[in-house]
Amino acid sequence: MNSNKRYILNIVVGQNSTINIPIVTADTALVIRIESNGDALVIYLGKRFQNDADYASIPNFQLNGDYTGLYSSAYTPSGTRSLLEPAIQVVHADGNPSLDLKYVHHQQNTTNQSSDITLTTIYLKDPAYQFEVTLNYKAYYNDNIIEQWTTIQHSETGVVRLEKYCSANLYLASANNYYLTHFHGDWSQEMHPAEVQLTAGIKILDTKVGTRTNTFQASSFFISFNQPFDHNDDDQGEILAGSLAWSGNYKIEFEIDPLGNLRLLAGINPYASEYYLTAGEEFITPSFLFTYSSRGLGTTSRNWHRWARKYRIPMGQNDRWIYFNPWSATGFNYNETLLTALMRDAKTLGVDLFVVDDGWFGNKYPRDNDRQGLGDWQENVKKLPHGIDYLTNVTETLGIKFGIWLEPEMVNPRSELYENHLEWVIRVPNRPEYYMRNQLVLDLSNPVVQEFVYDTLDGMLTKHSMVSYIKWDCNSVIYNAYSTSIRHQSHLYIDYVRALYNIMGRLRTKYPTVPMMLCSAGGGRVDYGVLQYFTEFSLSDNSDGLERVFMQWSYSFFYPSIATCDGVASQGQQPLKFRTDVAMMGKLDYGLLVSKLNPTDLLFSQQAIQTYKRLKDTIWHGDLFRLVSPYGMGNDVASLIYVNQTQNHAVWFSYLVNNRYRAGTSRPIRVKGIDPNKKYRLQEVNIYPGTDNSTIINAINLSGDYLMTVGFDPMVNAQRSSVIIEFQLAN
Ligand code: DGJ
Repeated sequence: MNSNKRYILNIVVGQNSTINIPIVTADTALVIRIESNGDALVIYLGKRFQNDADYASIPNFQLNGDYTGLYSSAYTPSGTRSLLEPAIQVVHADGNPSLDLKYVHHQQNTTNQSSDITLTTIYLKDPAYQFEVTLNYKAYYNDNIIEQWTTIQHSETGVVRLEKYCSANLYLASANNYYLTHFHGDWSQEMHPAEVQLTAGIKILDTKVGTRTNTFQASSFFISFNQPFDHNDDDQGEILAGSLAWSGNYKIEFEIDPLGNLRLLAGINPYASEYYLTAGEEFITPSFLFTYSSRGLGTTSRNWHRWARKYRIPMGQNDRWIYFNPWSATGFNYNETLLTALMRDAKTLGVDLFVVDDGWFGNKYPRDNDRQGLGDWQENVKKLPHGIDYLTNVTETLGIKFGIWLEPEMVNPRSELYENHLEWVIRVPNRPEYYMRNQLVLDLSNPVVQEFVYDTLDGMLTKHSMVSYIKWDCNSVIYNAYSTSIRHQSHLYIDYVRALYNIMGRLRTKYPTVPMMLCSAGGGRVDYGVLQYFTEFSLSDNSDGLERVFMQWSYSFFYPSIATCDGVASQGQQPLKFRTDVAMMGKLDYGLLVSKLNPTDLLFSQQAIQTYKRLKDTIWHGDLFRLVSPYGMGNDVASLIYVNQTQNHAVWFSYLVNNRYRAGTSRPIRVKGIDPNKKYRLQEVNIYPGTDNSTIINAINLSGDYLMTVGFDPMVNAQRSSVIIEFQLAN
């Protein structure tokens, strides 16, 4: 396509005139200014002004000593006059490495999807080359989320090499200091927050692991303006929270420029990923999503939750099934007889769904351990002599659903798949293989492999009509990145993720209502790119109740509880009630062996599931208010409340997170999010059978105003290490 024909090449802006393009939500404005020389600059990101005309009064940063006029570029080119980190770096078809981007035109439309959404597109072009960049900004008005991505294309004679291609390039200039909170970890240690003050230079969050992208560093973060984030105050301060919707290598850069302002660049990691773009081809970056609030992290979290339920996570406003998955108790050691017994136990427990995890497949190389069988997706005839349908018949008879585990992107070297299709495997042919969990990653950049992965899932769902839930696992990173089929090796990391999304998208289209759980050795792959296709995700393989309080807390900064699978399992020193109460603040699931429960534990668990079914609508679809943070200095407890949309019902969770002598609550905790003008009846729920009635909180009526001004003491202590209080309207 010849871009000359599409756009008026002369810059539309007249001499000495500028255009301000406000991209607004209910509370936030991002303002792009087109300078008279055609440069697109970010002149404002923050609280929305009452009057859009006032954005014109914001001064230019060049006046303060920007030598280039580009420090605040909305998409910083490289190789011309910019001196700072670029958003885009290219080598043109003629070998010239310079790029300049000038405004051509822009448009703002309310999309068909909903009048809540406005799409702003700003078209930029290199005056010297047929090279174009489109900046796309989708503003979700009511939920205060802005989604940004970039489209790159050219009509040069030959191939252009893209060396860097960010999704977003923002500029923040309103604060004196910026404090970044990011989340690091490893297997079983997901989402540990760390805060740094951003100082002159660049702080980078990135990953190069290829698949389990969150393994070491999450692609979600938040920035507190002017002061360190105060974990004891969720409602104050300016916060910008961001998240890159990409399940592959990413790079997020925070550069404090010579003016002391913050440049934020986010996108696919250019590491080993030069992209060769042919004429007419579009390179569309993943989305960078962000939300801003001048009212603290509590507000930005609720923005994410509401938006994700409405626009991103499949069936985010619907129901979920509580599952029982015995994996953490059985591992690979099961057969049809044991599974049948466990299914009966699941029924006894009262869950909705039974999940058969890893180990059900492979014949030449039976999947009896993690060293073999991965990729051979046929029922193991010894373990399941009558196949999957026999099992689904059992669950059908019991009146529960059946779900199954797959890890379709992977292969063990000891497998028939590997023996027959070595060329499907990501590996460097002339180097030794290197494994994570004894497995390798399939080369999804190869269309034949894509079909194999799609068919694995599709075959499972079509051949076994009563399979109604999928757990999709991903346990290995990519080592020795090399494809035997791809033209440019440097496309592999990108094409892998695109192919993955393509497969998942096809499956979602064909099976729009099948719940699918995203797992990656726990929470190794959690982002809003892949969550377009999955109804829920695994937080972690670590099900220790105390660890989960902290993890769930961190996840709650970005992800809604309806999507967070929280299994009650046997890990951890805490009592069963504590572990159950913790799981109930997310999506309650089970991994306990019923046969190992004493009668009281079983009764408690059965009652807990029934209680949860009554409370779940508020937990899943209500607003979250964090009251006392486990990360807050000197806090013995963690406490949070979910309030439904009508403010008629709330569920309040509190947990002891410190074992010191006399640790616990000693004074009331102020409640948030309820209606000050309503009167609530507070009743402790999920009580362990046999608990002395005088030690529980029983039917206390208090006004919303009182609860939010004075508060209420849930009386958490070593004897009451977790407490759930239900709020209902008092008569
Ligand atoms: C890792 C997952 O996180 C576990 O839940 C389980 O599915 C195993 N993989 C199975 O290999």
